[in-house]
Amino acid sequence: MRILITGGTGYIGSHTAVELLNSGYEVLIIDNLSNSNAGVADKIEKITGRKPIFSKTDLCDRSGLKEYFRENKNIDAVIHFAAFKAVGESVQKPLMYYSNNISGMINLLEEMSENKIENIVYSSSCTVYGEADKLPVTEDSPVKKAESPYGFTKQVGEQMLFDASKVSDLHSVILRYFNPTGAHDSALIGELPVGIPNNLVPYITQTAIGEREVLTVNGNDYDTPDGTNIRDYIHVVDLAKAHLSALDRILSRKSSEKAEVFNLGTGKGNSVMEVIKSFEKVSNKKLNYRIGPRREGDVVSIYSETKKANEVLGWKAERDIDNMMLTSWNWQKAISGYKK
Ligand code: UD1
Repeated sequence: MRILITGGTGYIGSHTAVELLNSGYEVLIIDNLSNSNAGVADKIEKITGRKPIFSKTDLCDRSGLKEYFRENKNIDAVIHFAAFKAVGESVQKPLMYYSNNISGMINLLEEMSENKIENIVYSSSCTVYGEADKLPVTEDSPVKKAESPYGFTKQVGEQMLFDASKVSDLHSVILRYFNPTGAHDSALIGELPVGIPNNLVPYITQTAIGEREVLTVNGNDYDTPDGTNIRDYIHVVDLAKAHLSALDRILSRKSSEKAEVFNLGTGKGNSVMEVIKSFEKVSNKKLNYRIGPRREGDVVSIYSETKKANEVLGWKAERDIDNMMLTSWNWQKAISGYKK
């Protein structure tokens, strides 16, 4: 089977490419390299011993995309990751987010349709649930008004798939990720944040290695046991493996629904302080952190109900927070050339 991964040199895309290649799929990658580099394709080859077929292609370049599909035939399914993902940046540059994430996806879906590619696995986010009324959140929990343009683009992406599936041969699996973190055990691939990281774990590892001075904990006066926000952190390798289950389900037409949604989380919430403690334990380093004010737009707590993914996809997250911290730390040391 030939699978096209958009955004395949990015963080989750590269880990998914590894799992697919290890399972015998032929992998094609397109990426515009806006937040990654072509060297990632070599790292994927180093890990798996198999080469993904890489092309620098931008989903927003319609004629380039057309050309791509003219030259690359017999694609059985697309896994669509390519998108901008920084929440704060999306508030500052909403049109850039709408243009890239929504127009890019429209181009992709139209080209898929013209080339009779009927299967798509879509990378969505738990951000669609906003501040959930009931925890854990199930796939039937209401989708709330988006808190950011980034969140809105994920909701629109989902809606395009629901609508297109009704009137065409398109089959979709929509995966709502909780908080992806960790890196590959080889420390050859991982997250490469550009500039100052927004997300907690890269901020922790960059602080520990000395690239940032101090981590600010965004508020410790929330209504949670230790006062800090609770999230469902999930290891990126676990997440990548879920895409194998999703592909299997969609390619073998196991579902009666043409567009299906799954939450991908561990089902366990960890507070910011618990994440810091886990990091300190596995790295054997004291982290320099201070308590700061709340960050605007943060939900208090969110974690996933995992029953549907466990039972229907036959997938379960296996790695715990300590392993996420350990592999994130090993990755940080690798990219910073840490010698100690
Ligand atoms: C955000 C997005 C989510 C996206 C994810 C990964 C929202 C609501 N969620 O999740 O859609 O998939 O990023 O890109 O926008 N924290 C600190 N100090 C820091 C950084 C973070 O205390 O320096 C805290 C945050 O306040 C939060 C937790 O750590 O409580 C996790 O934050 P973060 O890693 O940014 O992820 P989310 O905001 O949960």
